[in-house]
Amino acid sequence: MADTNVPVIRTDIPHSARIWNYWMGGNDNYEIDQIAGDAGLAVDPEIATMASQSRQFLIRAVRFLSEERGIRQFLDIGTGLPTMQNTHEVAQSVNPDARIVYVDNDPLVLTHARALLTSTTPEGVTTYIDADFHEPEQIVADARNVLNFNEPIAVMFMGVLGHARTYEDLLRIVRTVIDAVPSGSHLIMWDGTDDSQAYVTLCENYTGTGGTPYIPRPQAQIRAVFDGLEMVEPGFTSITQWRPEGIARKAISAYGAVARKP
Ligand SMILES: C[S@@+](CC[C@H](N)C(=O)[O-])C[C@H]1O[C@@H](n2cnc3c(N)ncnc32)[C@H](O)[C@@H]1O
Repeated sequence: MADTNVPVIRTDIPHSARIWNYWMGGNDNYEIDQIAGDAGLAVDPEIATMASQSRQFLIRAVRFLSEERGIRQFLDIGTGLPTMQNTHEVAQSVNPDARIVYVDNDPLVLTHARALLTSTTPEGVTTYIDADFHEPEQIVADARNVLNFNEPIAVMFMGVLGHARTYEDLLRIVRTVIDAVPSGSHLIMWDGTDDSQAYVTLCENYTGTGGTPYIPRPQAQIRAVFDGLEMVEPGFTSITQWRPEGIARKAISAYGAVARKP
C-alpha cells in the first residue's frame, strides 16, 4: 500500500520554495519552477538579487552572532529548501557544538530537511519541527526539547513573515517567541517591503496563482518588529548593507536587522 505520509513531489506545477531556490542559484528546482521563476524575473528583475543577497545576509548575521556574541543555539523559523551555507553549516563551522532547530510547514521542505539538514559536526545538533508559525506556542514547546531556554538563542525569521496572515499575527508570532527566550538572545529578521512597485506586483501575481499569499509591508512596520530590542550596528537597513564586509551594494526593497533582547 502506498505510504500516504510521503509527500508527493509535483514537477508539473511550480512550487514557491523551489522558485526561491532557483532565484538563489540553488539546484533543488525543476524546469516548471525555472519557467515560473523567469516569469517573475520579467516582472521584478531585482527578485534574484533579493534571494541571493538574503542568503549572504543570513551567512553574515549567523557568523557574527556565533563569533562575536558566542551564540550557540539557533531557532530558524521558515527554513526553506536547503541551499548553500544553511544556518547549521555556518553556526557549526564556528562553534561545532551549536544546536539548530529548523521550523517549516511545507511537506517538500520536510522531505529535503530530513535528508540534508543534518549536523556537520559530531557534537552539534540539528533538528526539524514541522509546524505552522501561526502557532508559536507549539514551536516554543517543541524547541524546548532540543534548546536550552536558559541560554541565549538566536531567533530567525528570514524572508518569511510576509506569509503571516495579518500584521497583528506577525507581531504576535515574533513577540511570543521572543518572550520565551532569555536575556542575551537575539532576533535576526528581514522581509520584503512595499517600496518597490515591481515587487508588490510580483507578490500579487504569486497570490493569483493560488500560492500562500506573500504580503510586502511598509518599512516602518517591519522596523517595529524590533521594538524593545537593542539594535546591533548598523541597525535596521537594506539587507545588502548590513555589515557588508567592504563590498558596496545598492539598497534593495528587503530590510532587516539583528537585535539583542535586553
Ligand atoms: C521565501 S522562503 C524563505 C526561506 C529561508 N528562510 C531563506 O532565507 O532562504 C519562505 C519559507 O517560509 C515557509 N512558510 C510559509 N508559511 C509558513 C508558516 N505558516 N509556517 C512555517 N513556515 C512557513 C515556506 O514553506 C518557505 O519555506
